Amino acid sequence: MATEATLRPRWIPLLGGVLGSTTCGSLLYAWSVFIKPLSAEFGWSRADISLAYSICLLVFGLTTFLAGKMSDKYGPRIVVAIGSVILGIGFVSAGFIQSKVQLYLAYGLIAGFGGGLVYLPPIATAPKWWPDRKALATGFAVVGLGLGSFIMAPLATSIITDPNYGWRYVFYFVGTAMGIMGLASAFCLSNPPQGWKPVGWNPPAPPAGSPVAAATRDYTFSETIRTSQFWMLYIGYFCGAFAGLMVIGHIAGHGIDSGLKPMQAALVVSTLGIFNAATRILIGYAADKFGAKASLITILALQVFAMALLYPAGKDVVFLGVIAAVIGWNYGGMFTLFPSTCLQYYGPTSQGSNYGLLFTSFGLAGFVGPFVGGMLKDMTKSYYVPFIVGAIVVAISVVMISLVKAPLKKNA
Ligand code: 2OP
Repeated sequence: MATEATLRPRWIPLLGGVLGSTTCGSLLYAWSVFIKPLSAEFGWSRADISLAYSICLLVFGLTTFLAGKMSDKYGPRIVVAIGSVILGIGFVSAGFIQSKVQLYLAYGLIAGFGGGLVYLPPIATAPKWWPDRKALATGFAVVGLGLGSFIMAPLATSIITDPNYGWRYVFYFVGTAMGIMGLASAFCLSNPPQGWKPVGWNPPAPPAGSPVAAATRDYTFSETIRTSQFWMLYIGYFCGAFAGLMVIGHIAGHGIDSGLKPMQAALVVSTLGIFNAATRILIGYAADKFGAKASLITILALQVFAMALLYPAGKDVVFLGVIAAVIGWNYGGMFTLFPSTCLQYYGPTSQGSNYGLLFTSFGLAGFVGPFVGGMLKDMTKSYYVPFIVGAIVVAISVVMISLVKAPLKKNA
């Protein structure tokens, strides 16, 4: 049987995950840096510019289903390679836009589509090489979402403010870099051969006398989507992402409205970003020890309290920074724990398709979360109501995930 000694070292797919996810983080989590220059050049409203972001999140989230199915069928490398080229073309094209529709097409549709193709396959692939550390490996496949924004926000700002360059060059330079990084990620990704396992590792034996002591097999995709557990996870994911994305879209505005200086608000945003990145690895480590579901319930329950404290925290930069850190931690943790739970319930064989469909809940949440937050703020003239609504929506997620029980294993 093949072992890692006879194949590529198994840290290589982890590197593929870091590179692919950093590419996607640059696409998604630094968008706010473009708002000012775009409105200065074209006079577009905030809502007009935000629509490009909403389209991107929606297309990104919905594309993951296709990406997962293709990855299960053709392997991760080709899917990520195609996605990287499309993402690069879309992002670079956004540097040439002259109208809103062109922005929606280049950034929202094309780059969002390419990003979805790059994002999903590493999540389905990395844990196959790490059956002994599945959640940790998943964490590596998503950590770059935090890292990408951390690198991209200051890099983009320095290009935008450089008199020799400006916002269009961010799209040209970073779009090219994203395409290259995505291709490097593709190169690092492949599925291990059937039956492969790490040297010296054996799957844990089922508990003595358990009815599943007989040989079991993974769920197929069509079996997975016929379980109630899958749809409970779907609702739980949607609710958790809805609240998190609402905060990410509005926390800087909340700080400034409450009297913080722009620099202090920017610091709060960076704090959220750092914790959003760190959690993805650290919670993976915890989940491998204590279980993904227990970790998920803990972070979601914490998120309800953090959301409820967000409004009163606005006036004090330290208080708001601490709450932003907690929210970033809990939010980022979901992207390690939901795929890990899905993997644990249904097995690795159809993880690409299963998690690809589960992740479409993020695309829907990305489309409505920031929008509902903005709408409630406009209606009530304060962030109090949107953040309380966010807390209630995450509470629904806590209930869902607490009620969900692992499906019975399928007999081989
Ligand atoms: C994530 O942060 C894309 O939002 C998703 O992993």
